[in-house]
Amino acid sequence: MANDYIVKDINLAAYGRKELDIAETEMPGLMALRDEYGESKPLKGARIVGSLHMTVQTAVLIETLVALGADVRWASCNIFSTQDHAAAVIAESGVPVFAIKGQSLEEHWDYLDKSFMFEEGPNLILDDGGDATLYILLGARAEAGEDIIAVPTSEEEEVIKAQIKKRMEASPGWFTKMRDQIKGVSEETTTGVHRLYDLKKQGQLPFPAINVNDSVTKSKFDNKYGCKESLVDGIRRATDTMMAGKVAVVMGYGDVGKGSAASLAGAGARVKVTEVDPICALQAAMDGFEVVLLEDVVGTADIFITTTGNKDVIRIEHMREMKDMAIVGNIGHFDNEIQVASLKNHKWTNVKEQVDMIEMPNGNRLILLSEGRLLNLGNATGHPSFVMSASFTNQVLAQIELWENTDKYTNDVYILPKHLDEKVARLHLDRIGVKLSKLDPEQASYIGVSPDGPFKPEHYRY
Ligand code: NAI
Repeated sequence: MANDYIVKDINLAAYGRKELDIAETEMPGLMALRDEYGESKPLKGARIVGSLHMTVQTAVLIETLVALGADVRWASCNIFSTQDHAAAVIAESGVPVFAIKGQSLEEHWDYLDKSFMFEEGPNLILDDGGDATLYILLGARAEAGEDIIAVPTSEEEEVIKAQIKKRMEASPGWFTKMRDQIKGVSEETTTGVHRLYDLKKQGQLPFPAINVNDSVTKSKFDNKYGCKESLVDGIRRATDTMMAGKVAVVMGYGDVGKGSAASLAGAGARVKVTEVDPICALQAAMDGFEVVLLEDVVGTADIFITTTGNKDVIRIEHMREMKDMAIVGNIGHFDNEIQVASLKNHKWTNVKEQVDMIEMPNGNRLILLSEGRLLNLGNATGHPSFVMSASFTNQVLAQIELWENTDKYTNDVYILPKHLDEKVARLHLDRIGVKLSKLDPEQASYIGVSPDGPFKPEHYRY
């Protein structure tokens, strides 16, 4: 179909292509997969729905999937994260893509719907945060006459219900058909993975899932070192505030929290951490951060960043206590970490795209980034290519696995085997001049491994 895409401006493609050319030099894992599988085309016949931030790095991922033989249709998984020039390159290359930076929530769910519209229907999902999977499963439940709730925010719940209704009226039975022909999903992030394990627990996972997030070369790199670079990038592009000397509070000290605290500390901020998990709290303390209660620092800190994947972490009562011009942002997957909805009846002044100043009843103003959506992708361009290469190499391997070995899997959540995790890391060593030592056979047998790996038992935590 001609012009089977929705992008901001197709003329941005030439600029996008130049950025892709640069990104490719920083994505050795993906380029190695093109070399390894470009001829055998293991994804031939696969029709992949992608729902993941439509950035330059994702464009390199998409072109890798296509080089391996797949048909692909794409939507972004967030309304603010698209890089319009990256979307334009993909559209121009003939891959249907539906993504505009600053699209509405209605458009978000409509574009997701459009990404499923292969002539013969899709057979795989590549998801980030679980919205594509959720759409199909909620729709199938609605078709079975069940009640459908349990989406992130109440505002979004109404939008998704309306979209499902529209599709049900246009194509009766469509969701159930989609659900039954999907062979599997690979999921990118912590929050989406939580949803999958929940579905499994409730006996409602209708196809196999690969948890890409918990490949070591994903969560211990993208979530950590990625945020270490992209958090401060987002705050700076949004506010140009001086970071050194400011007091910043990072809520959550998991992988994203660790990277975020390091990012702020690296920029000279004085960082405090809040946690609910004693292990992560102890880690934060021993990494040199004061671990505090939000209530105790809310009136004195300058910057507040949520990284928990949880909801209602910064609440209206906290925001009422914050000082004038405090910066509030989230780097977790969904916007419900901050009670943004409770600010709706305050006075908002838009400063620029994805930066708002909100006047509180006591006259103090807050600077809210990306309306509480993940600010590293809303206010900046997300993680650098190199770390995304590791994440996306896992994604491609997961898609190949789901496509080639469908029968090996039951409706459960799987993690890629350790030898593939080590392979992903190995593919990224040359680019940064890492020289790997080699075990001699005696050393290998002494520590009980093969000289070529895997080098660690499954229970090792890195
Ligand atoms: P994680 O599970 O490793 O860490 C979350 C931490 O938050 C845990 O240690 C937990 O104990 C803590 N926590 C939960 N509720 C809390 C509360 N009320 N107060 C303080 N701490 C609390 O998860 P991870 O991998 O760090 O991911 C966090 C979020 O970031 C997820 O939503 C994930 O999808 C998202 N993410 C975002 C990325 C980005 O580029 N913006 C990249 C990767 C993940």
